[in-house]
Amino acid sequence: MAALLRFEHVDAGYGNVRILEDLSFEAEYGQILGVIGPNGCGKTTMFNACIGHITPTSGHILFDGKDISKFSPAKRVHMGIGRTYQVPRPFENMSVFENVLVSAVHGAGHTERQGARIAEEALGITGLTEKAELIAGSLTLLDRKRLEIARALGTEPKLLLLDEVAAGLIETEIKDIMKLVADLKSKRGLTIVWIEHVIETMVGATDALMCISEGHELLIGDPRAVMDSREVEEVYLGASDEEVNAA
Ligand SMILES: Nc1ncnc2c1ncn2[C@@H]1O[C@H](COP(=O)(O)OP(=O)(O)O)[C@@H](O)[C@H]1O
Ligand SMILES: [Mg+2]
Repeated sequence: MAALLRFEHVDAGYGNVRILEDLSFEAEYGQILGVIGPNGCGKTTMFNACIGHITPTSGHILFDGKDISKFSPAKRVHMGIGRTYQVPRPFENMSVFENVLVSAVHGAGHTERQGARIAEEALGITGLTEKAELIAGSLTLLDRKRLEIARALGTEPKLLLLDEVAAGLIETEIKDIMKLVADLKSKRGLTIVWIEHVIETMVGATDALMCISEGHELLIGDPRAVMDSREVEEVYLGASDEEVNAA
């Protein structure tokens, strides 16, 4: 079986509003699949469908060959799907270590002892070991992004969904995050779906790239080819025209 995650003709949205329209794609085992697309095209909504915060009204989502379309978020986390949020949501008054521990124990159902081992490991790979005792609310944006990834690792995912972890960072910090994501693939063997707006980052850091437009996959393939395509250029030009008109 080639794909760890597979969307088959998925329609999904909020209430009666359909956001994802006939969305189909797959992420292969061990691959980093980048996801781009204009604001509001449904990238985060696709993650909400992966983790089970919303349920498809038609189509199927397969994880490791199983149809998980109707599974609860908790079940999906147990099966091995971990995600970060576009706006990091740490428990501000808890320490960095406690934040990851909570995710391992309450998110993934590990014992305190297992959870502590997993948390230490997650802090190690994300470069937060020396900041383990700091209060999460005191971290810089880069470290908050690292913590967001560490918390997702706390549930020991096979599939990691990254939602704009590089957004808001300066160039050297983006390089740190890129290195971290590359390590998660090469050293942990994780399959990663990575939504990002820092477009050039996505060319060098991904194995395949998908551009979503209006809830549907516009193009999927070689990152450079997708980025340089006329279709993607038009979708982004269209978006900036709207923004210009709205201003
Ligand atoms: N919880 C929600 N309830 C209703 N509409 C939402 C919700 N979240 C997002 N939307 C709408 O869904 C569309 C897609 O949003 P989103 O998936 O967040 O876009 P992206 O991540 O690609 O910028 C937008 O029009 C947005 O306003
Ligand atoms: Mg988003």
